[in-house]
Amino acid sequence: MSTASFPEGFEWGVSTSAFQIEGATNIDGRGPSIWDTFSVDRVETCDHYHRYPEDVRLMRELDLGSYRFSMSWPRIFPDGGGEPNAAGLDFYDRLVDELVGAGIKPYATLYHWDLPQALEDRGGWPSRDTALRFADYAAAVHQRLGDRVRTWFTLNEPWVAAFLGHGAGIHAPGRTSAAEAFAAAHHMLLGHGLAVRALREAGAAEVGVVLNISPVMTPAQVSDPGRRASEEDAAAVARIDTLVNRQFLEPVLRGAYPEELLPVIERHGGLGHVHDGDLEIIGQPIDLLGVNYYAPLVVQAQPSEPADPAYPGSDGVLFCTVPTAVTAMGWPIVPGCLSQLLGRLTREYPGLELMITENGADFVDVVTGDGIHDVDRISFIEEHLRALRAALDAGANVRGYLAWTLLDNLEWVDGYQRKFGLVHVDFATQRRRLKDSALWYRDVVRRNGLAE
Ligand code: NOJ
Repeated sequence: MSTASFPEGFEWGVSTSAFQIEGATNIDGRGPSIWDTFSVDRVETCDHYHRYPEDVRLMRELDLGSYRFSMSWPRIFPDGGGEPNAAGLDFYDRLVDELVGAGIKPYATLYHWDLPQALEDRGGWPSRDTALRFADYAAAVHQRLGDRVRTWFTLNEPWVAAFLGHGAGIHAPGRTSAAEAFAAAHHMLLGHGLAVRALREAGAAEVGVVLNISPVMTPAQVSDPGRRASEEDAAAVARIDTLVNRQFLEPVLRGAYPEELLPVIERHGGLGHVHDGDLEIIGQPIDLLGVNYYAPLVVQAQPSEPADPAYPGSDGVLFCTVPTAVTAMGWPIVPGCLSQLLGRLTREYPGLELMITENGADFVDVVTGDGIHDVDRISFIEEHLRALRAALDAGANVRGYLAWTLLDNLEWVDGYQRKFGLVHVDFATQRRRLKDSALWYRDVVRRNGLAE
């Protein structure tokens, strides 16, 4: 195999999420989600709810074989419980049929941050009951779609949903309590475990979870990964790694929280929400770990720095900017981190099958008469694919790569100004136009690899 080609059967595709593309927020019985409440800004976004046949056609045109989408929980359970809303299930039924008919393998994510507002009103993720409702929801959608959807991801990026949503308050539902953030994280993990159990009982073929894994490093290590950090800086790196990565990896894959995290949770509301038996439920075997990678977290020790509300217990840690190339979001572009994190997962969890479930970049696009020449996005993806190829050579077991994302869409609090799509969307007309990156990606898919 040449250095640029990928293993036979390697899967190529894209990922999306319901709230970011569907629109149609108040028809066919859909209830409000916490994101409708949090950002009342124009939620029609790409109107994928009505235009999904066109979007599936676009994927076909790009020769994509795999597609990860999320389901909107409040479409299925507008009031959080009771009987599922048939019209909501019908939509995903139509979408899955369209995908299967186009020869595209569906990967369904159950929770990509749009909790039914009705459940938030009853306590949301800081309340244990939400985890139980999540398992009911998983069972209901599996019952309808399990004959065609083989692979189910429970949660997408629970760190972001728990800590940006309940600690920093910059994501829905906008709460600002460290104790609630830890409780939300635990109940999301418990919801994952209960959903895994429900899906397995229902006969699901494969179950997994999608985590945002960010390598954590000092500024000097960004350009020189082998560089030794001072003891203080190494401790700062370890604390953030424990909060962001290990807090989720270890319960799911080892059935235990990292020892070092327990005193942190104790200091922020205590461990009362962790009941006997929870970690066995959370730690049930999974088939596949989805990895979302965008950028490293760069930190160093700074004795006077107060804790960032998104990282309770991070006192004395300074989050740094580094003089590397960045995307329009300001996220450092460090492709080598992708090889590094795949190497780490392979070392720490031998045998675990991985899939890159998101990777991509926001850049300012210029629409010209002869197209959208998004060269920066092409180089971003190309460099990350080279890093992924290197990780495969080093022994990582990676099933596929799903680019984030098919369409320009609603980027959460940042709204429509952020452009992660391979396809440009004119939100006034809903016209879709392939960017150069889409055509370039199609070539990658067709040759199952990069050009030499
Ligand atoms: C990860 C999230 O899963 C996705 O919803 C978001 O749009 C991308 N990061 C880019 O910020």
